Amino acid sequence: MAEFCGLEIVYLPTEFGLVKIEVLKHFIEKFNPEALFITSFAGYMADQPLSNIYNVCDDMGVVMVEDASGGIGDENGLLGNGDHAHIILASTGSPKTVNVGNGGFISTDNTILFESAKNILSSVKADPVTCAGIASEIKNAPQVISKTIEACKFLKLEINEFREVLHNNRQSLNVAVPDETPKKLGYQLRKGLNVHGGSIITVCPNYNRVNLKSVCIEIKNLDIRCMTPENLDIIIQLLKTQT
Ligand SMILES: Cc1ncc(COP(=O)(O)O)c(C=O)c1O
Repeated sequence: MAEFCGLEIVYLPTEFGLVKIEVLKHFIEKFNPEALFITSFAGYMADQPLSNIYNVCDDMGVVMVEDASGGIGDENGLLGNGDHAHIILASTGSPKTVNVGNGGFISTDNTILFESAKNILSSVKADPVTCAGIASEIKNAPQVISKTIEACKFLKLEINEFREVLHNNRQSLNVAVPDETPKKLGYQLRKGLNVHGGSIITVCPNYNRVNLKSVCIEIKNLDIRCMTPENLDIIIQLLKTQT
């Protein structure tokens, strides 16, 4: 949208997607941007230090917009929390933490921003059926996010016993493993898991994930009922045989 509106875009350098606070401060000083657009998780692989990011932005006059499509329902109150963002938005398409299959929402407690965006907001209004879907499905978000984080924590711990895992110590909704031949590994994992298409495996470098040769296992795309220790163990054993 920024490109569409003819606004200048500058990209914040990160550590494999993760924002470094000192880098952010220097970057804002250098480019004096109006807004920072950021997702709750770096490529769904690591939770961003949102409260610190927000404090820097707030102090330096930058509007912080969090895309919390993956962070809604965080029981720790760190992600998708209006106290740590000027504006929060979330897609509720599929597969998302609020899994409606359509639509999304924007939220702010800043009345000036809200009033100034009234026209554009009224032109992107969700239909009433989608709104009812969001109101109903959002109740499941805490369980979806906590179960998915728990499954990733388990996977990261186990996989790290025999190979490198990206952002090993951070909470996440998926798990990325660096690999020299990611296409080959992605193919082997898809074959082993008997999945067709790309939804469970993302081969990187990928703009939406990380600029590093790696394979990203998209746990976030699984139904939480599938995240049993037995199923997670299949992923671990498959990776073991490819190491
Ligand atoms: C973090 C995030 N925000 C927004 C979107 C866009 O979602 P939609 O399908 O509603 O356009 C995606 C899509 O996967 C996403 O991962």
